[in-house]
Amino acid sequence: MCGIVGYTGNAPAAPILLEGLEHLEYRGYDSAGVAVVSPDKGLQIQKCKGRLQALREKLDSLPPLEGTVGLGHTRWATHGEPNDVNSHPHVSQNGRVAIVHNGIIENYAEIKDFLLHKGVRFRSDTDSEVVAQLLEYCFTDHSDPLDAVYAVLERLEGAYALGILCADRPDMLIAARKDAPLLIGYGGGESFIASDATAIIAHTRQVSYMEDGEVAVLTRAGVQVFDQYRRPVEKQRHTIEWDVSAAEKGGYAHFMFKEIMEQPEALRQTISPRLRDGRLVFDELELPEDRLRDFDRIFLVACGSSYHVGMLGKYNLERFLRLPVEVCLASEFRYSSPLVDERSLVIVISQSGETLDSMAALREAKARGGYILAIVNVVGSSIARESDGVLYTWAGPEIAVATTKAYSTQLVLLTMFGLWMAEKLGRADPEDYAAVTAELALLPAKLETVLADTGVYQYLASQYFNHDCIFYIGRNLDYALGLEGSLKLKEISYIHSESYAAGELKHGTISLIEPGTLVVALATYGQLFDKAASNIVEVKSRGADVVGLTTESFRPRMEQLATHTLTIPDTHPALQPNLGVAPLQLFAYYIALQRGCDIDKPKNLAKSVTVE
Ligand code: AGP
Repeated sequence: MCGIVGYTGNAPAAPILLEGLEHLEYRGYDSAGVAVVSPDKGLQIQKCKGRLQALREKLDSLPPLEGTVGLGHTRWATHGEPNDVNSHPHVSQNGRVAIVHNGIIENYAEIKDFLLHKGVRFRSDTDSEVVAQLLEYCFTDHSDPLDAVYAVLERLEGAYALGILCADRPDMLIAARKDAPLLIGYGGGESFIASDATAIIAHTRQVSYMEDGEVAVLTRAGVQVFDQYRRPVEKQRHTIEWDVSAAEKGGYAHFMFKEIMEQPEALRQTISPRLRDGRLVFDELELPEDRLRDFDRIFLVACGSSYHVGMLGKYNLERFLRLPVEVCLASEFRYSSPLVDERSLVIVISQSGETLDSMAALREAKARGGYILAIVNVVGSSIARESDGVLYTWAGPEIAVATTKAYSTQLVLLTMFGLWMAEKLGRADPEDYAAVTAELALLPAKLETVLADTGVYQYLASQYFNHDCIFYIGRNLDYALGLEGSLKLKEISYIHSESYAAGELKHGTISLIEPGTLVVALATYGQLFDKAASNIVEVKSRGADVVGLTTESFRPRMEQLATHTLTIPDTHPALQPNLGVAPLQLFAYYIALQRGCDIDKPKNLAKSVTVE
């Protein structure tokens, strides 16, 4: 996820762009850049790797950029590691066009190949640059920039929020939007585009939200918006009510809540480039079938929530592949003389890609001959760079210490990879494969329905925020899911919590259950609902309060059993945890809120643990 800001008006554009980018750095901070266009100087581009401060220092060392029309960009790398060349804005080879982009151009390789054969010279490794080069190429047939823009948009597949400047139209800025947010701001004699209102709220509170397929033309004279058929559109204007400080989080009270709510979009970013016409594709991997066939054991190695992804992954991957899958805490793995050899597939899971324990485990596995596949969120991170293969979750920057959208995208990506590998090895049941891929396409929308009603979690938090110990129990996938629910609660509310395989409780820990103890009973794995039901009866008979989480299909039965019932939509069992985690995240969030905790920066914790 990247940050875009654009300006047309009568004031110097560069200072406005930089100020806007300051409010967008949470969306991406690998690199930043600005483009300003003027009648005398044409297109002026300054961009560099690193935080926005690096760009500011670079600009301070140069003569001011002249012009009152410009674009700014903060990057969260997807294709092409963070460096100066891969930073935005990207300029076409003859300097006629500059663009900034948020999203993923899924067919960029095909377009790049076409342009290379036309003699176009590329500078970067990014998908975004194809937009600038294709635009300039289309200028050969379309002198009107808007004609060229529409010709380009017809060719693009994937998600984009685009800002476009043309050297020979220094009065104009063009914007286009599909599956990535972009809004228009309206000022007095000036107008703006931005990824979210934080970037422009200091200048205007009057905005409209671009819809998919729309194209906007901004000049000093005003704003024109057209739909995908180039028909004029009258945009409804909205007034932003946030105060500036809250707007840093896009209007949410905490980054964690914002990132919980971003999960459907994050899942789309993870799933859509890898699901085409019902088939799973991993173009980013060079794992030929004979190499896949060689693997006789899989290790899932990680820490914290990423380890919990591995715990869930074990159930799905063993079910898909019928191969032994070992889930290892990275801090233990590295000192346990692991049984890794040339036939081992070692999957290292990490949001930050910088966790020292996971990094060290990676090196230990590599030294023993294992093939290292990383599932990470931060492009170009250490773990990504030292792995043999990388699958990026593309969840966008995750600011809150307690992970949510990164966990969810890691989980769905690992499930997708396991099914893809099983299909390649001829071990996937065709009906099951079709069922999973069909439900994958529906998963973000189903998650949106879960997130739509937060009232029930606020109510439950008001009932239980004063408890000093909360248990999570579940079987199979629900057991692994409970580990994450318990950790979320502990790390942001400081309430002690334990997660147990429901069948294990009676072997000791049930002695801790007494009247009023809260037990969160997870029963979303339908095949074992009856077993989970027995365990709920066991704890209730000892006086426990039970919050039961199940799917819509089992709601009536859970309502007979639990003190409170939470439900999620039914989906394929392998994907059910991707829906089940959201209620647990919200429950933990609202309890921490009730307790007045510092939700985004919990005590003693860091976002990336780069020490042993
Ligand atoms: C999760 O909410 C925690 N912040 C923590 O457990 C985290 O998952 C763990 O430190 C691993 O981090 P990584 O995914 O960046 O490697």
